[in-house]
Amino acid sequence: MTTPRIYITRPLPEAAMRVLEGTVEYRAWDRDDEAVPRETLLREVVDVDGIICMITEKMDAEVIDRARRCRVISQVAVGYDNIDVAAATRRGIVVTNTPGVLTETTADMAWAILLATARRVVEGDKFTRSGRWKTWELMGFTGQDVYGATLGIVGMGRIGTAIARRGKGFAMPVLYHNRRRVDAALEQELGARAVGLDELLRESDFVVVSCALTPETRHLIGERELGLMRPTAVLVNIARGPIVDQRALYRALVDRKIWAAGLDVFETEPVPTDEPLLRLDNVVVPPHLGSASIKTRIRMATMAAENCVAGVTGKVPPNAVNREALEHR
Ligand code: GLV
Repeated sequence: MTTPRIYITRPLPEAAMRVLEGTVEYRAWDRDDEAVPRETLLREVVDVDGIICMITEKMDAEVIDRARRCRVISQVAVGYDNIDVAAATRRGIVVTNTPGVLTETTADMAWAILLATARRVVEGDKFTRSGRWKTWELMGFTGQDVYGATLGIVGMGRIGTAIARRGKGFAMPVLYHNRRRVDAALEQELGARAVGLDELLRESDFVVVSCALTPETRHLIGERELGLMRPTAVLVNIARGPIVDQRALYRALVDRKIWAAGLDVFETEPVPTDEPLLRLDNVVVPPHLGSASIKTRIRMATMAAENCVAGVTGKVPPNAVNREALEHR
């Protein structure tokens, strides 16, 4: 058997490269500060048996059609809405992701954003650095209490559950909205109650979006939904930008329909510098850092390498999201 060939769309950490060594030949895009240009991607996938890619690559039907030999598309992320899974399945290409390893790290980040937004940490930091700090002000930079407030989780999967579990330490009653109810035992452990989306939005002090982006969840949080939220409420989006209608969110923040927003994700990434939301002080905007701890990113890359090796050596990759692709070969 000839050595399988793969294409990697970013430099990977050493631990991940060790998984590949001796098993595959690879070519790679060699910059981490810039995504592989579309033209390069289209050219590079033509003769490879597998691809390791990131959320920055649009793996649509055009790319997939070019990748005629490809058996596996291994994504270094849990979400894979950038990949046309149906097109891959039709061509017998298995798509894989990296579930589980990033759950706790991403839940930590949801909380970092939630706390930073509620307590105006970023605004305060900028103020300290600016030299405008003249005195301790009684009502200066006052925010919203987190302890004891109601936490609303939209999407109670692995990450949503981990976010809810942290809420226990803050004595927060938890409401959640999910396609299906979680186990009664888990509900009890978390002190969580399943509710409709409207009720969640009306009753929560903090609404955290942690569901997958699908055709059903695109713009799930729009003008009507934001209008249901409390004027003191904070919206946190740790999932995917298009789940929230960004234009409607801007209006809701300007009109003080809601109090603040913490957004790790955006409808267009990187966020264009003229994005109106960036002008608002009550918005916290890390650049899609949910899973960005050193250990977790190394684990994700290693897991993606393992999925890819399995896929190009005739095994079923452990994290296949479309096993049915195998029937199309
Ligand atoms: C990151 O956004 C992921 O889906 O893992």
